[in-house]
Amino acid sequence: MGVKPGDTLLDPMMGSGTAPVEACLMGIKAIGVDSSPFCRFMAQAKFDALTINPEDLERFMGKAEILFSDFKACPAVFDQQKALFLEKYPEIEKIEWEKIFNMLFLAFLDSDGYAQRSNRKTHLEYFQSIFERYSAAVKKIAGVLSHFNMIPAQAIPAQGDARHLDIEANSIDGIIFSPPYSFAIDYLENDLPHLKYFETNIPKLSETMIGMRGKSLKEKYGLYLEDMEKVISECSRVLKKGRMCSIIIGTNDNQLSKALNIQKEAVVGLHKVVTEIGKQKGLVHVRSLPRQIVGMANTMRQEYIVILRKQEGQIN
Ligand SMILES: C[S@@+](CC[C@H](N)C(=O)[O-])C[C@H]1O[C@@H](n2cnc3c(N)ncnc32)[C@H](O)[C@@H]1O
Repeated sequence: MGVKPGDTLLDPMMGSGTAPVEACLMGIKAIGVDSSPFCRFMAQAKFDALTINPEDLERFMGKAEILFSDFKACPAVFDQQKALFLEKYPEIEKIEWEKIFNMLFLAFLDSDGYAQRSNRKTHLEYFQSIFERYSAAVKKIAGVLSHFNMIPAQAIPAQGDARHLDIEANSIDGIIFSPPYSFAIDYLENDLPHLKYFETNIPKLSETMIGMRGKSLKEKYGLYLEDMEKVISECSRVLKKGRMCSIIIGTNDNQLSKALNIQKEAVVGLHKVVTEIGKQKGLVHVRSLPRQIVGMANTMRQEYIVILRKQEGQIN
């Protein structure tokens, strides 16, 4: 995509922030946006993991049971959990305590998810093993960064709506994102237990979640297309001229053929739909790379990396 160290990359639907994390490790400044407050938090914790001092985290290794019972005892409100942690461990360095809290609390939420999906271990046992795994990862990252004398570039995780980005026009050097594959996955349902900690107004959030609006599948798909048009239009607005926007998108032909009541062969793949929308918004098609999806064959078999470029002559 021609994005170089010092440039700025945007992922307007960052999920847990994979693309911004990778970008900032390459010295590329990154902005990540997601409408879910839990996604914003996950991404923040992952950015923190790149600069946390492993020794500070290790000090909590033997305290997993105490931490766990404190998290359990405190009401399911993120800010209260944070305040309680600071009160209990006031001796931690000011800049570090928030990063440590974020890491531990993400381990708590992550382990809750595992415990709900499987009964192989209790929530506490999952918390202990996930905390150990996070600590090992933080240690490895710190080792690699110090070995190569690397400092991650700035990464900003924001909660926002990709249909109305709070970003200046012509300011971004590259965009990469993976939007929901129409209505294939219910992101809200998946994260519901975690969202309660962020005092989320679920009906309000579901109005901003692309792929969730509407009642019947047919209506959902119509609104999805309307929303994607706004997202791609915003991508075109914030991108500098001549720069690239990559969209990773799967095609749920099976679901769409049922929803639209048409033959599977007649379904226009989502990669083609986003390419067409891009053209209308001043983004020319560069190429589409197919990739096989493993593990979801009944819903989706293939996804595409659709690469678009903002026209040089485009006026914003
Ligand atoms: C396919 S996931 C992205 C996964 C991401 N690439 C990662 O590494 O985790 C799509 C994301 O779009 C987000 N999303 C849905 N509607 C949105 C909107 N209007 N604005 C911003 N993000 C939105 C969802 O919360 C979800 O996290």
